[in-house]
Amino acid sequence: MREFDERSITAAVLQRLVDCTDPRFKEVMTSLVTHLHDFVRDVRLTEAEWMDAIQFLTAVGQTCTQKRQEYILLSDTLGVSVLVITLNHPSDQGSVESTVMGPFYWQDAPELALGSNLAEGVKGEPTFYSGRVLSVDGRPLAHALLDIWSGDGEGNYDMQIPGETAMKARGRIRTDAAGRYWFQSIKPTFYPVPTDGPVGVMLRKMGRHPYRPGHIHMIVSAPGYAPVTTHLFVADSQYLDSDAVFGMKESLVTQFQRYPPGLAPNGESLDTPFYTVNYDFRLRPVADGIAR
Ligand code: BEZ
Ligand code: FE
Repeated sequence: MREFDERSITAAVLQRLVDCTDPRFKEVMTSLVTHLHDFVRDVRLTEAEWMDAIQFLTAVGQTCTQKRQEYILLSDTLGVSVLVITLNHPSDQGSVESTVMGPFYWQDAPELALGSNLAEGVKGEPTFYSGRVLSVDGRPLAHALLDIWSGDGEGNYDMQIPGETAMKARGRIRTDAAGRYWFQSIKPTFYPVPTDGPVGVMLRKMGRHPYRPGHIHMIVSAPGYAPVTTHLFVADSQYLDSDAVFGMKESLVTQFQRYPPGLAPNGESLDTPFYTVNYDFRLRPVADGIAR
């Protein structure tokens, strides 16, 4: 057949995959073409809307730089990132739940001694984090790594602060022989995802707010265990019910216990209120140490 109507076009495109030798690629492309054509037929897409979509995707690409990934933000705000994470990290395997990585991770944060303050000179209320890293069967994991990052107490990551070139509120901490960790940082607050690009335009047009509830990020890893990219969410934060990127998980909501000025867990006397947080992370063993 050389000419196609609104139904036969789908089978014609799928037929062109006949010589594709990569079975997984063929499966993915078959489903993609099928769903994409169904979508276009379903909404009876107009030519003007098709051109708007092309221009939107072009703008998303043009907004990407070495430091900014607007496509990931698009995936995050459409719930695709969390869907992929949920499919690949089922919550029934006993390990701490995984959630979005976000765009503000910075590799090679300094490795700091247990008890260090990650947020020296950072705006925000002092918070003392502690807990353990355990195997799913409860065995403490010595020398497990927590690669930690957060915004400040006003919702800004170091990368977003004009003129700030140093890493702030970041660090890597290893558990002690009994699997314990403890460090100081700040209490994170809610903040908006970047809205000055095409994804911001989309969110406004959808009538959506751009905020994420207060959270601190970490990648928790140990040799022989599947690493987990996760957060701890602040239990009394705004936007827990409407995270702009759908990354909220109940199992990661954590009480930040408030204390009046006085003796802090690090033995110092503080003249401001402070918080304590306690959370145990569980990791799942993998036969060869490689996460799947
Ligand atoms: C974040 O939590 O850092 C984040 C995640 C997704 C999009 C934007 C920010
Ligand atoms: Fe974040």
